[in-house]
Amino acid sequence: MNTRETKRYDVVTLFPEMFDAIADHGITRRGLDEKAWELQCWNPREFAVNAYKTIDDRPYGGGPGMVMMAEPLNAALDAAIKRQVAQGVAKPKVVYVTPQAKPITDAGIRDLLKEDGLVFLCGRYEGIDERLIQQRIDLEVSIGDYVLSGGELAAMVLIDAMVRLLPGVLNDGNSAVEDSFSPARDGLLDHPHYTRPEVWNGESVPAALMSGDHARIEAWRRKQALKRSLARRPDLMQNRAWSKQDLKLLDEIQQEQKKQ
Ligand code: ADE
Repeated sequence: MNTRETKRYDVVTLFPEMFDAIADHGITRRGLDEKAWELQCWNPREFAVNAYKTIDDRPYGGGPGMVMMAEPLNAALDAAIKRQVAQGVAKPKVVYVTPQAKPITDAGIRDLLKEDGLVFLCGRYEGIDERLIQQRIDLEVSIGDYVLSGGELAAMVLIDAMVRLLPGVLNDGNSAVEDSFSPARDGLLDHPHYTRPEVWNGESVPAALMSGDHARIEAWRRKQALKRSLARRPDLMQNRAWSKQDLKLLDEIQQEQKKQ
């Protein structure tokens, strides 16, 4: 893979060591080894302006907790952007991970992946001085409607979800293509999976998977994906133009459920 294709992800964080979790393990690590992406963390404490290395202060107007000061974050973002520009990223976008944004989906991850480089800003404490957010942030992203104690885990979730989609990062080129939510599955959930032994704890592998008949296997898998999506995420099934085969499978599912 040539270096022009390397994705550049920089992170501004008070806890750079947390990112060892994705840098040192599994598929994300392999992606780093193969230069599919690179990671650089920037600690705003190193950009603090006073001798005490202060990066937070009490909120104006009172109230609990501390607020991250604008200037150390501003300087850390400048350093990250400067590095990315030097690496050839024309205009790196700055992403603030925050629960106060729309939760991201598979399509959102694929959109982020179109960028050559991204700079993630991770907040801690009660939040970040709003002026920094207004002046420096291109995009705000949440990973779900719940609150984490900082943006680091959210940034890692986003990076992991992106990196595994990069060409050559997963072992089997097809396995990301067939994930739940992926366009190839037109946004449905994945089908169930089975491996050896053929009988485990009294339960056999479904006969269709043992048939060796490729068309039968594919039809069984599609039916299971439809059945699962219908039961677990009916919201994914709305406003769709179903194929003839899907309509037949959906009809079968309905008939089976009537019998139960
Ligand atoms: N920081 C804290 N909670 C978060 C969330 N749910 N998504 C993104 N960033 C966060």
